[in-house]
Amino acid sequence: MGAKAFGLDIGGSGIKGAVVDLGTGRLVGDRYRLPTPLPACPAAVAETAAAVVSELGWSGQIGCTFPGVVRSGVACSAANVDPEWVGTNIETVIGAATGLAVVAVNDADAAGMAEAAFGAAAGHAGLVVVTTLGTGIGSALLYGGVLIPNSELGHLEIDGADAELRASVAARDREDLSWQRWAKRLQRYFETVESLLWPDLFVVGGGVSRKADRFLPLLSLRTPIVPAALRNEAGIVGAGLLAAGRPR
Ligand code: BGC
Repeated sequence: MGAKAFGLDIGGSGIKGAVVDLGTGRLVGDRYRLPTPLPACPAAVAETAAAVVSELGWSGQIGCTFPGVVRSGVACSAANVDPEWVGTNIETVIGAATGLAVVAVNDADAAGMAEAAFGAAAGHAGLVVVTTLGTGIGSALLYGGVLIPNSELGHLEIDGADAELRASVAARDREDLSWQRWAKRLQRYFETVESLLWPDLFVVGGGVSRKADRFLPLLSLRTPIVPAALRNEAGIVGAGLLAAGRPR
């Protein structure tokens, strides 16, 4: 087994951590998950994050995802966590709670890095748009494996509404949409993204990508669209890569 790193994935519903094998992109041992506290304010999230890290007995550097824009370790938006995060230095807050050095990145960017290193976008030379479908819609833009951070394509305004309010998994659950009706919204979403960016490949991640056969075949796009290979673990793996100073 090669070098290892710790990936911590802060999500709207769960805070998950695992040790990642940097040679294979696989998790080493078990993943540990605790529910995201409510309200998901910095102090409460940091305390839960510290409990996840200590459960797995990790004592090195941590790569940490956050479900909002992250610039130089600072949260700049918080669509699905407490607004108190905006302006908070994630690395400082999680670092103080765990006593460890932390590197923070947007959750979809972490997933994109993992897919580019080990998954569905590995070795792709062109423009890849990785989207994560969950509580929100996250996006990562990769060109030749290089990440362009904080693309935030889940907040494109489409037909007068914020895209993730209509096409996320949360929207599907909230409105109890059938796969067919949800796929219509995804169709509108992905065709808008492809008309703006002309990507070479879409990779679809998030927990729902396990059921990709239920909705991807219903989409009709000019861009190839495939499920994420690392499924819901891409965030943890990408965070681990980041912790090791290997952003791609
Ligand atoms: C946030 C993104 C995040 C995505 C998935 C969106 O609401 O703005 O930063 O990547 O949700 O969590």
